[in-house]
Amino acid sequence: MKRLERKHPLAIRWFHWINFPVLFVMMWSGLLIYWANDVYRVGFGSHTLLHFFPEQFYERFNLSSRLAEGMAWHFTFAWFFALNGLLYVLFVAFSGEWRYLLPTRKSFGEAFQVVLHDLKIRKSPLPRAKFNGAQRFAYTGVVVMGFGSLVTGLAIYKPIQLAIITRILSPSFLGASGYEVARWLHFWLTIGFCGFFLVHVAQVIRAGWNNFRAMITGFEVVRDETEETPHVA
Ligand code: HEM
Repeated sequence: MKRLERKHPLAIRWFHWINFPVLFVMMWSGLLIYWANDVYRVGFGSHTLLHFFPEQFYERFNLSSRLAEGMAWHFTFAWFFALNGLLYVLFVAFSGEWRYLLPTRKSFGEAFQVVLHDLKIRKSPLPRAKFNGAQRFAYTGVVVMGFGSLVTGLAIYKPIQLAIITRILSPSFLGASGYEVARWLHFWLTIGFCGFFLVHVAQVIRAGWNNFRAMITGFEVVRDETEETPHVA
């Protein structure tokens, strides 16, 4: 028998769907800024495997010579990103939703089982839960990443006024200034968001319409006889 089950509170759905376009604008405007001084690469020694980003990338997506515009968008939307994130964290803390989201000791084993299941090594269905161990790690991790982006963003926005952050980020063994460390972290956190986004959307597609619809309507259709629901990470 099928029945409707409450899954995601209204506030969480709003925070989630507001975050998506806001994060998109943050990344796009970040690229407009990054173009002016594109220093990062993957490589060893003087050998570069991948330079972020090739000239054709900026040309293809019309990202060149728009530094001032990028800064204006970035510094405006950062407020929305921060406010939306803060309200989300407060809601999760005070509503008790954190119980479904924070990893527990069980989550390590569960996340491992999810990987085995996704690789089709584990054949038996996963136990039914709002969020499995892998999701708990991914969703808590992405919130920590958001916080990291804000702090490092503030450090490179106002490195003098917020010298306390740059000072914390420049332990002597690193041999780099707090500003450089903050900028490096800010960039790689953004690459991390892209990675999260690709896996998250792929998992949403794999989990199917019922799961996606629940993030819009708040309700999921549940079959009493099934043990397993599709999952997202
Ligand atoms: C990069 C942008 C995104 C971030 C940072 C993000 C983050 C999250 C987080 C933290 C949750 C857990 C929410 C909670 O219950 O508190 C979640 C759930 C979810 N997200 Fe996203 N999301 C993003 C983009 C998307 C997109 C584009 C889609 C649609 C294709 C999507 C679909 C979903 C769905 C369906 C769930 C519920 C998963 C389930 O119930 O198993 N998200 N997302």
